[in-house]
Amino acid sequence: MDAYRWLFRPILFGIDAECAHRATLAACRAAGRVPLLRGALTRHFAFDDPRLRTRVAGIDFPNPIALAAGFDKNGVAIETLASAGFGALEVGSISVRASAGNPARPRLFRLPLDEALLVYYGVPNDGAQVVAERLARSRPGVPVGVSLVETNTGRAAPLERVIEELVEAARPFAVLADYLVLNLNCPNTGSGVNPLHAPANLRRMLECMRGIERLPPVFLKFIAPSEPPAIDAILLAVDTYEFVNGFILNVVPRRPCAGMRTPGADYEHLPGSITGMPLRPLACELLRIWYPRIDRKRHVLVGVGGVASAEDAYRMMRLGASLVQVLTALAYRGPALVKRIKQGLCRLLERDGLRDISQAVGADHPLRA
Ligand SMILES: Cc1cc2nc3c(=O)[nH]c(=O)nc-3n(C[C@H](O)[C@H](O)[C@H](O)COP(=O)(O)O)c2cc1C
Repeated sequence: MDAYRWLFRPILFGIDAECAHRATLAACRAAGRVPLLRGALTRHFAFDDPRLRTRVAGIDFPNPIALAAGFDKNGVAIETLASAGFGALEVGSISVRASAGNPARPRLFRLPLDEALLVYYGVPNDGAQVVAERLARSRPGVPVGVSLVETNTGRAAPLERVIEELVEAARPFAVLADYLVLNLNCPNTGSGVNPLHAPANLRRMLECMRGIERLPPVFLKFIAPSEPPAIDAILLAVDTYEFVNGFILNVVPRRPCAGMRTPGADYEHLPGSITGMPLRPLACELLRIWYPRIDRKRHVLVGVGGVASAEDAYRMMRLGASLVQVLTALAYRGPALVKRIKQGLCRLLERDGLRDISQAVGADHPLRA
């Protein structure tokens, strides 16, 4: 029986979405303090297969399915989350100064007909120092990435300020995080660093990042363009920064978003950006366009947006994603989804006669090197 679908989801979906998010995190945090319970969860969700192991950006991941940024923003529950069987956990986004996020309430909305959410949090978080101290005490046993963003003040900050903030936010995590993600244009805030329009800004920021000692691999997350000249401008801008290991291609669809079942009248008046299933076609399209353009010896792509099954994850990987992140589908389908995706990936590898998951990456591109 699927306990999440029949028991936990009706309870969680009966309350405000942000309260449900908080309650879930609090439960995970509490479970993390009871080693027996954590052990039981680990056994319940266990599914490991050597074919899913992968090495990306010099980091060993037990499998390619990662928790996307935004669920455990403050790193309060990473040990319990690791027991769900993720290959990596992304904490954050975190800013150098603590922030309460956007003042408006409610700021998280469910669109169940589309297995989607509308997110208008505005990156609330405890601030880099507090989260770093917390991470220093945690032992999740899987790679942990830390996503960084500028502090949300409700106003677009000047470029120099944004750069300074990102660099200062990165410092405490340099020796703690397995990788860093620079969340360059969080759709909920007004960022001054927008690689879409000004690769020169990106270069200035990376130049400052370079000064941080023992910087781990860095991934850039941004609202990714699909036009080749814009993509090439970004690739050129990052070219000399060897610590940039890849890109998390963020999708922020125009609203109303094509093909959604939810009537526009139900969500058009609400603030925030759509996550979940409606993003999937766009996310796949971005991977298809980006993969042939990157230098695969230096950069990888991380797929994110609407992954809800093994088939979705596998498709993204065949289109060029080395890792795949999941978030919204967990709210709809529960934590057992991770195990189902991993089991399904193994079946798909067998079906296609592939030795391991790295062979699937980019397999749909005819000229893969
Ligand atoms: C509740 C919620 C909070 C999020 N917060 C962040 C965040 O702080 N930083 C970030 O980079 N992305 C954030 N995201 C975006 C996710 O990391 C991801 O890119 C997006 O949800 C698409 O994946 P999904 O369709 O699997 O949810 C958030 C998403 C959700 C649903």
